[in-house]
Amino acid sequence: MVGLFSRMIVGMTIRMPRWFVGWVSRRYVAGPSLDDAVRVMKRLESEGACFTIDVLGEEISTMAEATYFLEEYKRVIAAITENSLDANLSIKPTAFGLLLDKEKGMSNIESLVRMAADHNMFVRLDMEDHRVTSDTIQVMLDMHDSGLTNVGVVLQGRLFRTIDDIEQVKTKLGPSADYRICKGIYLEPEEIAHTSRQDIIDATNACIDSMLDAGAYVGIASHDHPIIAHALNSLETRSMGPECIDPRPGVPDERPHKGPGYEFQMLLGVRGPLRRRLRNKGHRTRVYIPYGDKWYEYSIRRLQENPTIGTQIAKAFIMPWTNRP
Ligand code: FDA
Repeated sequence: MVGLFSRMIVGMTIRMPRWFVGWVSRRYVAGPSLDDAVRVMKRLESEGACFTIDVLGEEISTMAEATYFLEEYKRVIAAITENSLDANLSIKPTAFGLLLDKEKGMSNIESLVRMAADHNMFVRLDMEDHRVTSDTIQVMLDMHDSGLTNVGVVLQGRLFRTIDDIEQVKTKLGPSADYRICKGIYLEPEEIAHTSRQDIIDATNACIDSMLDAGAYVGIASHDHPIIAHALNSLETRSMGPECIDPRPGVPDERPHKGPGYEFQMLLGVRGPLRRRLRNKGHRTRVYIPYGDKWYEYSIRRLQENPTIGTQIAKAFIMPWTNRP
């Protein structure tokens, strides 16, 4: 029933004029330009949040497009520095050419990560669908091998493989691993992923615990109460929390611009009151700020890939108190 309702909302939304989709996505996307992203971050700075910036766009069809992303992200580094923002970068490896020309894609990513390192800035590799899971993890490991430690990966709780990936990364990086853990937005086939809501929650929570036990830095990226409640409990049982020094053995003394071994991360426009409550209790909270002129394609593709977002958007409008920005 919920699935049918979601599909109906998605079906209606993608037939709507561009201005309507723009109106819906306004709360989730900072705007078409870098100036819009800077403006939104300056506004949210007052609540004590920090940020990660995503230039919208993903799988590309020519390497010229990869050059566009590389240059745009260089402008983002300059804007973060000029405006003294507490922000880092989130990049999609396929936007840098990973699926078109692996070698060139890798070298594009490396050149950005190196520039970010020169500015003491962190780069998060967003995780896309299962075609690129192994390559994305490998890119991160290769960067660490070449001395670039300012890079970390996203893992998706819904994938069966993730719990093993955490073990593999642990043997290579130990507590230098820096993750974002989320449920995973792509609806992956049941052969490789959990598909029921409760299984996805349980698997994601198990990944959070496994990352914490590995001594890794953990960005808990969820707006879902059972995940946040579980994470808070797991932190407490490990004597981790705001104002605490990370007590886990072997962890780096200092992680620049990071929390005490963990942080909470949320998407722009989603469950602001929850984010502010966590912040008011002293937890580090990071807001994911997407911007770019590809906002229309991004919004439509997300809706088509995962129709359950339709329900969330409908809920945000029909019951706005459940999801204030
Ligand atoms: P759930 O989907 O159950 O949401 C809980 C509640 O939050 C909903 O009931 C609704 O009220 C609200 N909500 C959540 N998402 C909403 C939305 N889009 N619009 C309106 N309301 C919404 N995935 C991935 O595959 N690769 C990645 O790299 C990332 N990166 C990433 C970064 C950050 C900072 C976040 C927060 C999330 C991601 N994700 C991601 C997406 C993630 O995998 C997941 O799809 C969403 O966070 C939704 O899952 P929740 O855990 O929030 O639960």
